[in-house]
Formats: sequence, structure tokens, C-alpha cells
Amino acid sequence: MTLDTEKIRRDFPILSRQINGLPLIYLDNAATSQKPESVIKAISDYYRNSNANIHRGVYTLSEEATALYETTRLKLAEFLNAPGSNNIIFTRNATESINLVAHAWGRKFLFPGDEILLTNFEHHSNFVPWYMLAEEKGIKLKVAPFNGNHELDLQTFAHLLTPRVKLVAVTAMSNALGTILPLDKIIEWAHANDSVVAVDGAQATPHMPIDLKKLNCDFFSFSAHKMLGPTGVGVLWAKNEHLEKMNPFLGGGEMINTVTVEKTTWADLPNKFEAGTPNIADVAAFSAAISYLSDIGMDMVRGHEKELTVYALKRFNELSDFTVYGPKDPEKQGGAISFNHNRVHAHDVGTILNEEGIAIRTGHHCAQPLMKALGVPATARASFYIYNTNEEVDALIDGLKRVNKVFGL
Ligand SMILES: Cc1ncc(COP(=O)(O)O)c(C=O)c1O
Repeated sequence: MTLDTEKIRRDFPILSRQINGLPLIYLDNAATSQKPESVIKAISDYYRNSNANIHRGVYTLSEEATALYETTRLKLAEFLNAPGSNNIIFTRNATESINLVAHAWGRKFLFPGDEILLTNFEHHSNFVPWYMLAEEKGIKLKVAPFNGNHELDLQTFAHLLTPRVKLVAVTAMSNALGTILPLDKIIEWAHANDSVVAVDGAQATPHMPIDLKKLNCDFFSFSAHKMLGPTGVGVLWAKNEHLEKMNPFLGGGEMINTVTVEKTTWADLPNKFEAGTPNIADVAAFSAAISYLSDIGMDMVRGHEKELTVYALKRFNELSDFTVYGPKDPEKQGGAISFNHNRVHAHDVGTILNEEGIAIRTGHHCAQPLMKALGVPATARASFYIYNTNEEVDALIDGLKRVNKVFGL
């Protein structure tokens, strides 16, 4: 079974746009995905028909808005095969979810002399919050490197996983190289070492099936906007045993049980971690994105991207002036390919492609430690989603062949 990309593309209004007189070819899905009509409509429907503040109204509109908001939480629990839904917390983005864990769990449960084990693949969102915490509390950060195939060097990871490591914070998939990390092994080994595991699922959740019951990590963070949903919505799933013991992240309305000058007590989960009026409209509309992906099936999403990646890697072989990074093994690589021209800066490559209506990402991809380990300041990255086609990959390769002509090489 293959995806009916022609049908899918009709659901995404932006894909009929022209850029520089040519059809838009959107290959920056690792940064953010485009949105189907159903999500766009759900945002405006919410404001047209159901807008009210949630959780505290006894009138119809407020009850409707509350139901829309809470339905997304229930749908997410099913989508992620999560044990329970009251441990799904809505935040602004994956970055805020990870910061929540650093502040509310890390500050309380990590102590001077403890260690946090990261990998070289981490996005700054899963690096800087831990760096800040380490600075504040006298904690040591350790970073597991990648091997020659740009896969996690498991032997060194195991070596670094010493008894002082209280937290392993790891991405499920590298945004910069496309590498899929072996989470099963990482989590099993970390738990055997009594380390808590925080997974950055920002790249994996939009592109492959996630089964939180099976995964058995302690914290799992991601953003709606990379998976067809609106911007401004992030998710943190965490085991109840942690959330119950953690202090709140932000204080204010909604997150309390009772407030007196002498003593304030916290609301039950999930409200304890959702202070203030949340992003109701976008959480409600995120529901349409989850339905869209569920209707396709995440196995199909992964299968489609795998096919595109295999095809693109094959076509990249025609380009003698380009270096392609990442595992290049379709089982270990998601739908993101990082590359560089051997003599032309990635930004220039991106600018030339833009002339052809092709949108790729260039730069350090918020992964400067990874760029340093690769020995380059930047790469160009093409990243795929359900609406991308082999023809678009062909256009990418044709565009890249133009680079030498433009530079007279
Ligand atoms: C692996 C990874 N983690 C975290 C993030 C941060 O996501 P957001 O900017 O939505 O918070 C990104 C965004 O690109 C990412 O790729």
C-alpha cells in the first residue's frame, strides 16, 4: 500500500502556492509541517462557534470549549498508546515541555555531583535547559558521541552510563541528520542504571508510530506544529509517579486547589501543570491533525517517508560534489537528509533552490554541538512529509545540479 499523495496534497491549500513563478516544493518539514484544511477550519470554527474560557463556566459555550480542549487530550492518549490521559500536559511547544521537566523535576530531584547524560544529536531545546540546570546546581553534563555512520555510539554510551547519571535526556530522532536513535536499548540500559529517561519526541512523533506503554520512558515531549497541528501547542507526557512528586512549573489560576495567605495547595493532574488560560483554540484544532494522521496510519506515514528517503539517497549518488551525512540506512534514518556542497556554503545552496520554488533548511539546525562534531558550520537539509513526492525529490536533485552552473564550477 502506498499513500495517495495526490489526494493528500489537495487537502493542503498552501501547496497550490507558487514561489518565484514555480509550484512550491516544501522540504522543510522537520522545522514545521504544513496544515490541512481540516485544521485551518477547526481554528476558525472554534472562534466562530465555541469561543469561551474553559474549566470554570457553567454555561453551554464554556462547556463546549472545555469538551473540545479535553477531547484533544483523550485523542492524544490513544494516538500515543499512553497509559492514562491526565498525565498529558499541554504547553506552548516541545521546548517548554523540556524546560518544565528541567525546572519542576530537575531542580527538585537532581543534586550537586549528579550527572546528566545527553547525546551529540540533541537539539538546543534538549541541551540548553540541562546546561542551565547543570550550571545552577553543580551537575555534570556528559555527551555520548555518534560513530562513523552518524549513529549513536552505543558502546561509548554504555561506558558513560555510570551510577552518578541520574537522568538520560535523549532525542528519538535527530532533526539535523535524520538518525533514529535506538530508544529501546537506551531506556532499558538507563533504567537498569536507575536513571530517569526524558525523551525528546519532537521529530519522531510526527513521522512514526509512538507507543508510550511499550517505550516505558519517564518523560516524552513534542510539538503539535510539526505534525500538521497549529503552532503554540506542545505536549509533555510523563509518568504519574513523577508528576505527583514534582512541584508546579508556573503558578497562577487553574493550577491550584485552595489558596490562602498561609498555604496554597495544588490542583490534581493535569491542571497542576497548566497555569492560566491555555491556548484553547489551537489545542482544539490539534484534534483535527491527530485525526488526519490517525486516518492515514502512522505506519503508512513512516513507510512513505522511508520510500522517499531511499529514493532521494539513490538520486544523491549522482551528485559528485555533495557530501551526504546521516546513517543512509533506511531503517535507521527518518525522512530528513542533511548534505553539503563541497565548495559552496549551505546558505547559497538554499538560496539557489529557493529560486526554483524549493524550500529547504540551511544552517546549524539548532544543533551546534552536533555541527562541531561533524566539523562543519552548517548543512543543508531536505525533510519530507506525507505530501512530498518522488517528483519533488527529482526537482531537488535538478536544483542541486544547477549549483555548479551558477558558481561556474
Ligand atoms: C529534535 C527537536 N527537539 C526539539 C525541538 C523544538 O521544538 P519547538 O521549537 O517546537 O519547541 C525541535 C524543533 O525543531 C527538534 O527538531
